[in-house]
Amino acid sequence: MKHFLELASVPTGELHELLQLALRLKAEWKAGGNSPLLQGKTLGMIFLKPSLRTRVSFEMAMKHLGGGAIMLGPQEIGLGVRESIPDVARVLSGYVDGIMARVFDHKDVVQLAQYAAVPVINGLSDGYHPCQALGDMLTIHEHFGTLEGLRLAFVGDGNNVAASLALACAHFGVSFSIATPEGYEIQRPVREQAYDIAGRNGSILEMRTRPQIAVAEADVVYTDTWVSMGQEAEAAERAGEFDAYQVNGELLRQAKSQAIVMHCLPAHRGDEITDAVMDGPQSRVFQQAENRMHAQKAILARLLA
Ligand code: CP
Ligand code: NVA
Repeated sequence: MKHFLELASVPTGELHELLQLALRLKAEWKAGGNSPLLQGKTLGMIFLKPSLRTRVSFEMAMKHLGGGAIMLGPQEIGLGVRESIPDVARVLSGYVDGIMARVFDHKDVVQLAQYAAVPVINGLSDGYHPCQALGDMLTIHEHFGTLEGLRLAFVGDGNNVAASLALACAHFGVSFSIATPEGYEIQRPVREQAYDIAGRNGSILEMRTRPQIAVAEADVVYTDTWVSMGQEAEAAERAGEFDAYQVNGELLRQAKSQAIVMHCLPAHRGDEITDAVMDGPQSRVFQQAENRMHAQKAILARLLA
């Protein structure tokens, strides 16, 4: 693994190793601190979209491992506008030891990786959010003590987060069901990749069922915004389409009584999730947010150390 751009091309065994490393690094951190695996290393962080979790968790992960990070916001480098992506990749490679990029078009992060001499990590693209999915596997593993044999139900938009979760579940032997309105399914190529990987790992993928059916027997009920960054112009139209896809108390009662609720955040309370569910006893959303940092330490250690 040279870069971390999406999960379909990462071997299942490497993802299992990353999860084990994340568990170790989190325990080490909680016991007093991490050893300086990334002493003297710097991560360049390119953000073309806003961020709270990704930006702070990557910066703190680098700091805890003895390194540092430089934030490059949309106004600063003008990726692909002020300067071409290949040129930015080649210039940055001379200064930093790794690049994390949050972009619109997934092809942009692929092109960065193609031209960079240092590892590139996808911090969210329109297609995928692999760091989120790895952090989420950590959260689920912590709660249940295992991943294999569990069932995760995603309710809402078949977006970047859903796509990466489907792939992560397929790798880790978690059965995945998703309920989306018609026209908002996970893209076909990703579905095919997920089916293929799931087939090898003994898990089941079910696409496009009704929310009540998707969450039945679920151990994890997951949702995300109906309007991702860059889709703001579609907000009104989407609100109508997604009405029946809210994770609320009534829907949650259809899942297993011990089910946990997850959301990558930021949440739009009252839309895809109610306050009562988000702040309720089954919610793990803030543990989930913290785990972004622990999972990313594993990715950074693996790629930059
Ligand atoms: N979940 C997530 O990626 O959050 P941010 O957009 O705040 O980074
Ligand atoms: N699907 C959301 C995730 C935000 C972390 C988006 O892309 O905006």
